[in-house]
Amino acid sequence: MEKPVYILGIESSCDDTSASVICNAKVLSNIVANQEIHSKYGGVVPELASRAHQQNIVPVVQQAIEQANITKEDLSAIAFTRGPGLMGSLLVGTSFAKSLALGLKVPLIDVNHMQAHILSHFIEDASSKMPPFPFICLTISGGHTQIVKVTNYFKMEVLGETIDDAVGEAFDKSAKILGLKYPGGPLIDKHAALGNPKAFAFTKPKVGDLDFSFSGLKTGVLYFIQKQVKLNPKFIEENLNDICASIQYTIVEILMDKLKNAVKQTGIKHIAIAGGVSANSEIRNRLQLAEKHFGWTTYIPKFEYTTDNAAMIAITGYLKFLNNDYSGVAVTAKARLKVTE
Ligand code: KG4
Ligand code: ZN
Repeated sequence: MEKPVYILGIESSCDDTSASVICNAKVLSNIVANQEIHSKYGGVVPELASRAHQQNIVPVVQQAIEQANITKEDLSAIAFTRGPGLMGSLLVGTSFAKSLALGLKVPLIDVNHMQAHILSHFIEDASSKMPPFPFICLTISGGHTQIVKVTNYFKMEVLGETIDDAVGEAFDKSAKILGLKYPGGPLIDKHAALGNPKAFAFTKPKVGDLDFSFSGLKTGVLYFIQKQVKLNPKFIEENLNDICASIQYTIVEILMDKLKNAVKQTGIKHIAIAGGVSANSEIRNRLQLAEKHFGWTTYIPKFEYTTDNAAMIAITGYLKFLNNDYSGVAVTAKARLKVTE
């Protein structure tokens, strides 16, 4: 029997410090330290994020190794997020991973965060199926909204993307207008579950077939709320669930329309979602329904692999390890890394 491969993954691109150990494609541990500090500022403060990563990284990595029940000498390689993300945050993970790899004399593997969101589908887990190539992945997060054609593990082509805000921003900025805490996406989801999605109508943007635009929706929500609050100062509290359900419905309609276009253009009916917003219950429901209605096969990641996590970095590291695709010590963090790089 071949020796098992143990990879330590480290993720520090935004405001979550995470470390994970996998054995081949199975996750042994996946520790995520969220940074509460940002919620009172209504968004991520880069300098605070970087400092919190510095405080969290050692205990988070230690916990990941302990929970995996291995020692650091068992590790076959160290994988880390090279980008895209906040420079100060990326630097913490990058320098930590470099030093650890150097100290342990094991290969260092740089990972593209956007590829990792997509490749989280290849984590071996009895409860979820893996997409066959080629498939379409809708990557929806706080920083990105893309439709990607995935031909093999590392051959990806962006078919469409947002021309302004990311879908996560549409959720978070709408939530902020409603006075909800950051990140507002999960809170909109929670309130929407109790509301009527057809209560209020918001306009869908007109952009290219596979592209997205969310800045108009945010402005639409702002003007609508301002107008209603003038008429009734208690409008938000009296209608919060309906407002959230209507915003969420509009966003998910936009996403589904674009996916339908992508299927029409490519003929590919294997559809995956990835990224923080794929935790949203409405998009998950609608994709499940699409199996019945449109004959798609859909791939929905487990909750813990949707928002930023290091297990997705570790699985990508593992797939690169199998290709002997290592990084040199000169590798540097890159804030604006494209999914195809
Ligand atoms: O992938 P992610 O953790 O970080 C980035 O790489 O951006 O995504 C974070 C985004 C935030 O905008 C957050 O509000 C959104 O994902 N999000 C959700 C839900 N859970 C997280 N949006 C809508 N519904 C959810 N349940
Ligand atoms: Zn992400």
